[in-house]
Amino acid sequence: MVRRSHPLVGFFLLAALLAACAKDEGDTLDADRSLFPLHVPPGWPEPPLREDNPLTVASVKLGKALFFDERLSLGRGISCASCHHPDRAFSDTVALSFGVHGDVGMRNSPSLANVAYHPLLMRDGGAPTLEQQVFIPLMDEAEMDVDPQQVVESLRGDPVLAAMSMQAYGKPLDLYVLTRALANYQRTLLSGNSRYDRFLQGDAAALDDAEVRGMQLFSGAANCSVCHSGCDLSDHDFHNVGIALDHADDPGRQRITLHPADRGKFKTPTLRNIALTGPYMHDGSMATLEETIEHFNSGGLADPNKDPLMTPLDLTAQEKQDLAAFLRSLTDERSLDPVP
Ligand code: HEC
Ligand code: HEC
Repeated sequence: MVRRSHPLVGFFLLAALLAACAKDEGDTLDADRSLFPLHVPPGWPEPPLREDNPLTVASVKLGKALFFDERLSLGRGISCASCHHPDRAFSDTVALSFGVHGDVGMRNSPSLANVAYHPLLMRDGGAPTLEQQVFIPLMDEAEMDVDPQQVVESLRGDPVLAAMSMQAYGKPLDLYVLTRALANYQRTLLSGNSRYDRFLQGDAAALDDAEVRGMQLFSGAANCSVCHSGCDLSDHDFHNVGIALDHADDPGRQRITLHPADRGKFKTPTLRNIALTGPYMHDGSMATLEETIEHFNSGGLADPNKDPLMTPLDLTAQEKQDLAAFLRSLTDERSLDPVP
């Protein structure tokens, strides 16, 4: 026999259940709208954040989901992570990366470690914010080659992303949400937990003798730290270091400023995780760290715009090895991605 309860009991139960759900939802909403607990490495300044895009837990979670989603290339198998892979400090392993059509772009994919600190994005500084930068890989023919509007329309039907978008920005997924969420996820990719950092914090055993000698050269006689300065080991400024003879294919910073004096200047890359991010330089033209050290040792190719610091260094074989050893100590000992 089927026992029937009074119809009102069911109604009250349902009402109670709905109320409980609403409460839970409200709680997670509040928790996710809270600020993301960014673990800034000891002694570092806080990265500059944007008032118009608060770094909330929900925005970072959504940004991470989008960063790894191949649907951003409309099902053609490429996500942001294809060229910015977590195992490679968010760079990749090739000189020039392949896009959706199988052809390569103009430049080497840089690490995204500490991009939160860059005043200008791209190797030529052509993108003023991480939010605006998102349009470049989406629309570049050699990268994702999509219509960004079509991408958000195709993702909007996904119930998981829809819920995440409401939580993060209180509106359905659109370009406003997509660009802000991706920017915020990338702001959390901090790297400052290498053996070098432990050494700076007082653990004298964190570096061996060769690495310490390399570190002294780096910030002493070899002048590297003039440009590779500060916590990100980059001044984030633009220099011509004599990589190419002719900049016809890629004028670098001049592409943006149009000043002839900026021809062949590129942004100083971070040296953090450098052992993982080869091939090197804007064009991926150097395969090994030894080649890059040899380049700086030689003073670089002749160029009217070359930085005056680029003079031959006359390093001994031992000094070159020490510098390489130091550079290899800059690999982070933790995951750069703090999002579970
Ligand atoms: C096909 C490979 C490829 C894909 C896919 C790709 N990128 Fe990149 N990314 C690059 C290359 C190459 C550069 C350097 C380009 C330049 O400086 O002109 C770059 C540069 C960047 C930079 C600037 C870093 C700096 O040091 O200034 C950011 C930020 C970035 N990408 C984020 C993204 C995001 C977000 C996505 C997904 C929406 C994405 N990328 C997809 C290859 C790729
Ligand atoms: C005048 C400023 C300057 C000085 C001095 C300098 N660098 Fe650089 N370094 C740069 C710039 C700019 C690039 C990027 C060039 C490009 O993309 O073509 C670079 C690139 C590199 C790279 C490749 C990074 C990558 O991700 O592709 C390494 C490694 C490197 N430098 C190490 C050193 C070492 C070691 C020294 C000292 C011996 C040194 N640098 C001195 C500005 C400088």
